[in-house]
Amino acid sequence: MTNDTEELHDLRLVVNGTPYEISVPARRLLSDALRHDIGLTGTHVGCEHGVCGACTIRMDGKPIRSCLLFAVSAQGAEITTVEGLTRSDGELGPVQQAFKECHGLQCGFCTPGFLTTITAGLEENPRPTREEAVDMIAGNLCRCTGYQNIVDAVLRASEIADEQGGEVSA
Ligand code: FES
Ligand code: FES
Repeated sequence: MTNDTEELHDLRLVVNGTPYEISVPARRLLSDALRHDIGLTGTHVGCEHGVCGACTIRMDGKPIRSCLLFAVSAQGAEITTVEGLTRSDGELGPVQQAFKECHGLQCGFCTPGFLTTITAGLEENPRPTREEAVDMIAGNLCRCTGYQNIVDAVLRASEIADEQGGEVSA
């Protein structure tokens, strides 16, 4: 929402390798800019205050809660959303494939945040132990599962990435 007196800022955001020019008020959250101004609705918004992890994206490789950042602060950064995790040939990326194989979701609302968090986590630690996999997802909330299948998916994603030559992201 904007009002007539609100100043707009022209912004260039590079998301999943594609540049987008948008005009937003200074207070527009990055999560809202991605969803409403750019139309990438894969990034989900739950708590809107940094607790649930549903809105996690990657900014310059690091997992970031996009509900805690103003869009104007992301100018010039490389952003990857869940839509950017698919491989360039259109096939599922390792983390997506692992979620599918391990049934790592029920309603799926939390899933985009898990996928981006785990992708970044596996780049940092490609062969996690089960305990490290649990730690990797500790900041993401899921209301539907007991996390067992999601933990299985972290370990399976690590195997798939290994089978595919070690690349966990697109
Ligand atoms: S919506 Fe951002 S952490 Fe919950
Ligand atoms: S699958 Fe429903 S919130 Fe996680």
